[in-house]
Amino acid sequence: MSEAGEIAVRNATLKDAERIYALVRRNSDQLVPRSLGNIVESIDRFFVAEADGEMAGCAAYQIHPEIGSPESAAVEIVSVAVKTIFRRKGVGRRLVNSVMERIRAFGPRQIVALTFAPEFFGTLGFVEVPKTKVMHKLYTGCINCTKHDNPFTCPEIAMEFRGDAAKTVN
Ligand SMILES: CC(C)(COP(=O)(O)OP(=O)(O)OC[C@H]1O[C@@H](n2cnc3c(N)ncnc32)[C@H](O)[C@@H]1OP(=O)(O)O)[C@@H](O)C(=O)NCCC(=O)NCCS
Repeated sequence: MSEAGEIAVRNATLKDAERIYALVRRNSDQLVPRSLGNIVESIDRFFVAEADGEMAGCAAYQIHPEIGSPESAAVEIVSVAVKTIFRRKGVGRRLVNSVMERIRAFGPRQIVALTFAPEFFGTLGFVEVPKTKVMHKLYTGCINCTKHDNPFTCPEIAMEFRGDAAKTVN
C-alpha cells in the first residue's frame, strides 16, 4: 500500500473554503452539496490534506442532537473527498482519522457515515447498519435532501463506527 507521507493533514482555515467548496461540488454525485456560506460557517469542523500548496482532500463532521438526551448525540462523518490524482494513497484514511480523533474528544455515543464508498469506510472500522439506526441523520439531514424519493430507498449505505479506537491514529 502506498502512503501519502508528503501530504499534510491539518485543520481548515477560511482561506481553504473556496477550494473545499469546489472539491465537494465536483463530487456532488457522492456527497451532499454544500454552499460556500455553509462551508464558511462550518470551517472549524473541516480538515484538509495539502501537498505543496495544493488541496488534496477534505473531510468534516456534523453533530446530530437527540431531543431530551444531549449525551446521545450522533456524529456523522461528512464531506469526505479526495482529488482523483491523490486517491488510493491513504489521504482519505488520514483525513477521516483526523476527524475521528477530534470527534472522540467530545465522546459521542455513535459515529456514523452515509456513503457510496462502504469499502473505504469498512477499512476504517465502520460496519453497515440498517438506516433505522441512524434516525438522527435522517431527521436532520436526509429529510431535506431532494436527490431521492425517500431516505429508505436512497442507495447510500448507513454505517456505524465499531472499530478499535487505537487503529484510527494517523
Ligand atoms: C472515498 C474516497 C474519499 C477515498 O479516498 P482515498 O484517499 O482514495 O482513500 P484511501 O487511499 O485512504 O483508502 C483507504 C482504503 O480504503 C479502501 N478504498 C478506498 N477507495 C476505495 C474504492 N473506490 N473501492 C474500494 N475500496 C476503496 C481501500 O482498502 C484503501 O486501501 P488500499 O488503497 O490500501 O487498498 C475517494 O475515493 C473519494 O473522494 N470519492 C468520492 C467522494 C466520496 O465518495 N466520499 C465518501 C462519501 S462520504
